Amino acid sequence: MTERSDGAHVALSGALVVFGATGDLAGRKLYPALTRLAERNQIPKRFAVIGVARTEMSDEDFAARAPGLAARGVSFHYVAGSFDDEDTFVRLKETLDACDVKHGTAGNRLYYLATVPSAFAKVARALGAEGMAEEPPGTFRRLVIEKPFGHDLATAQELDDELHAVFQEHQIFRIDHYLAKETVQNILALRFANAIFEPLWNRRYVDHVELTVAESLGVGHRGTFYEQAGALRDIVQNHLLQVLALTAMEPPASFAADAVRDEKVKLLRSIRPLQPWDLPQLVVRGEYSAGVVDGEPVPGYRDEEGVSPDSTTETFLALRLEIDNWRWAGVPFFVRTGKRLARRVTEVAVRYKQVPFLPLPKSAVDSIEPNTTVLRIQPDEGIEVSFGAKVPGSPFRVRTVDLDFSYQEAFDEDPPEAYERVIFDALQGDATLFLRSDEVLQSWRVVMPIVEAFEHNALPLCFYEAGSWGPPEADALLGHEDKDHWRTP
Ligand code: BG6
Repeated sequence: MTERSDGAHVALSGALVVFGATGDLAGRKLYPALTRLAERNQIPKRFAVIGVARTEMSDEDFAARAPGLAARGVSFHYVAGSFDDEDTFVRLKETLDACDVKHGTAGNRLYYLATVPSAFAKVARALGAEGMAEEPPGTFRRLVIEKPFGHDLATAQELDDELHAVFQEHQIFRIDHYLAKETVQNILALRFANAIFEPLWNRRYVDHVELTVAESLGVGHRGTFYEQAGALRDIVQNHLLQVLALTAMEPPASFAADAVRDEKVKLLRSIRPLQPWDLPQLVVRGEYSAGVVDGEPVPGYRDEEGVSPDSTTETFLALRLEIDNWRWAGVPFFVRTGKRLARRVTEVAVRYKQVPFLPLPKSAVDSIEPNTTVLRIQPDEGIEVSFGAKVPGSPFRVRTVDLDFSYQEAFDEDPPEAYERVIFDALQGDATLFLRSDEVLQSWRVVMPIVEAFEHNALPLCFYEAGSWGPPEADALLGHEDKDHWRTP
């Protein structure tokens, strides 16, 4: 290991094997992230990148996909072949062994599955069959894999069994790119490195919590994929429940990977199981119709490329969750996500209870917005605290004002992009920002009743205009005189 100026260690040697090397994810995210890591001297000194995909290509043509890296002396190799063909893996093994000899990659391998999900188990099995998953003493063999982790609880469990038949849990790095966002990690800093928030972070002071992951984009060219996913599988089961877990979990014993993951799993387990007969009161399913976003007219979901003209896939989902533990009993968590909403914003808003007694006439209070702590995750990353302040002059009046912290203004450093962090951490073997198997399965447990209700079309589909904040029915979820509408981010 060598030490970087900020104290993080860079692995000395290793090979990165990219399965699906010619695909969209590799081209759009992996190679640019690797190039930026190289610019910051955050790749191993002795490093090789080996691409595996079906297309025939020379090593030089493969290297040309990441020009910045090749220029820094990283060696590039390409293995053309099908994942169904044993010979592909035999040739990959030969290439890797040759890299150990020629480039000093020392038997360390990071296998990155940038493939279609149907290939995940197949590639893992083939690696196992060639003896490429076992870790000889003093080396690492790690598998990086991205969602979807299954299509439901049963298939997630199957995939897990397949991976565990070959790799041990400590070798499997499941990406949720939301965890690699600096502001998501800042939830931990805010909660556990400060004395002023945590004492209020419970049922005594919090009335409810609103969590929003809103996107202004539609499904773009991913209509065919999205038809199978919907907002529940695409965002709620993973990104949204992860943000919820970090917001609501108990303090971990340390920031070590398993200490944090233990607390997240405990929280996910405490989410009250959704009962099918309660779902109409707890879930709002929406789909966008044509509208205007950022001044531009946009088509409805059913008119998007690859989408069935009578599709009932949800592009919006709002739900009310309860957490059955001492900290949160009786505090509803309202979560919502959607495509083609008014703007792109991800935030957590903790809404506090009203004061027990207000020693002022109602006329002295301009608006009775509850005190709120907002964790702005993106864009415009920061933290906002709103409270009542006296309006200057007389008579005595109170109005809501904000304290606003902006990341951009407070820090000069550019945070690493999520994929840079993911690759760097996987090379170091730091699993803190990756999902453990039990987290994935617990998240599926939470959403399964909704999956089943959607399969049976047991919940109404509410339409909303593209560019709005979702179907009006979502407000009804909050249904309480102090909280009858969502905070507008
Ligand atoms: C992905 C989803 O996991 O997250 C996409 O598949 C979504 O549909 C994306 O757009 C959102 O990520 P971000 O980082 O832009 O908030």
